[in-house]
Amino acid sequence: MKPGKLPRSVEWASSFAGHAPRLQGRVPGPRSLALRERCLRGEFGSYPWVDQVPVAFESGQGVTLTDADDNLYIDLTHGHMGAALGHANPEIIEAVHRQMSRLSHVRNQPCEIRAQLQETLARITPGNLNLITFYSSGTEAAEGAMRVARAVTGGHEFVSFYGDYHGRTTGAIGTSVGSRMTGPRPSGFFSVPNGYCHRCEFAMEPSTCGLHCLDFAERAIRMNSHGALAGIVAEPITNASGARVFPDGYLRKLRDIADRTGALLIFDEHATGLGRTGRMWGGDHEGVIPDVIYFAKYLGNGYPVTAVAIREEYRDILASERQGERQGSTYGGQPLACAAALASVQILLRDNLTEHARVTGEKCLTYMKEVAERHAIVGIAQGRGLQLGYEFVDPKTQAPSSEIGHAVYQAAMERGIATSPVGPALRVSPMMVTSAEVALKALRILEEAIADVESRFA
Ligand SMILES: Cc1ncc(COP(=O)(O)O)c(C=O)c1O
Repeated sequence: MKPGKLPRSVEWASSFAGHAPRLQGRVPGPRSLALRERCLRGEFGSYPWVDQVPVAFESGQGVTLTDADDNLYIDLTHGHMGAALGHANPEIIEAVHRQMSRLSHVRNQPCEIRAQLQETLARITPGNLNLITFYSSGTEAAEGAMRVARAVTGGHEFVSFYGDYHGRTTGAIGTSVGSRMTGPRPSGFFSVPNGYCHRCEFAMEPSTCGLHCLDFAERAIRMNSHGALAGIVAEPITNASGARVFPDGYLRKLRDIADRTGALLIFDEHATGLGRTGRMWGGDHEGVIPDVIYFAKYLGNGYPVTAVAIREEYRDILASERQGERQGSTYGGQPLACAAALASVQILLRDNLTEHARVTGEKCLTYMKEVAERHAIVGIAQGRGLQLGYEFVDPKTQAPSSEIGHAVYQAAMERGIATSPVGPALRVSPMMVTSAEVALKALRILEEAIADVESRFA
């Protein structure tokens, strides 16, 4: 990428933000509220933070969204990071349209577009994680990864980390934070604190702790395991709890623990993968090659497609375990999904968006850290590349504050900046195709929202 020249997809997507945000009235406006009433009449399971600011988005172009009342937003969340190449990306529309007019749906059968996608992904997956299969959601991919680990190790136990999230099917729940509704964690699943130094569970200092959290994790694995360990499941940078980055050496030590205990190291690269953090994979920041990854978020740029990639040497074991018929699903990797995914990966590679994410992300994080200095309600600004976030605190007690986090989310939406809150954290994820200029403009408006909320909580 030449200095000063924006990659093609960035130039296209960011061009829509010239007049954004642009508000016509209150947010949410009357049409949004009417649509919410209609939807609520017929559905259950809406998200509390959607209910908090029930904006009905009607269309999107590039890095912007337009709601039913014609308010124009800059999108720093794109459906939890699912449309990172821009709304209504014409290259992806064209690829899906072309495929749809040829072959819409077959289940698991070979076809040209599937082969092309596998070959292209195998060129970018870490190490020799070149055997790939497809699903439609992150949680299915998490289950697929765990099935591989069971088949390869003969075990069934999984260890995961506080604050990580992997989905809402049984195994994924077993490796994530549960609730009364999800029922008890299945036996064989246990979780341990991770290396979130900002709130160290062991009240230690990163400069002197020697990654004590992972020494503890290894002891906990040995104490809890009944000799049937299958996998260690981790996000290289935690997404659900707001872009938590771990200290240097953390991922390498995880690799060592997996090697010593015989577990497969499974990285959930759903959020971190495909260049989002400024390297192709989260594990690349420490040169760590796990045994299994699963990823997507924006693989289909909103079209539901996720992938699991595993080491080549597992081929024979999986064949003997008849895993072929145990993987896959009706829509997993069907031709339209493959077309969307192939177009996405081609744009990512052609425009070197990984490097764009690194450079733009550094500028954003520098600015966000200055914001953290200026505002007492910001506990920390963190993340890597374009996976970024704030964590908010009560300025009087320094305790994490969901109330403040959600108030900032609302104040930002009311100013035309779409983000996504989770507890005290606010995920700030500029698209892979957001120019630094647009991202910084959005962050400045977000700071106004922070200042507004701060004045109310002082
Ligand atoms: C890191 C991570 N893994 C897995 C999932 C689950 O993915 P899905 O909602 O597609 O099932 C999510 C969802 O947000 C996620 O952020």
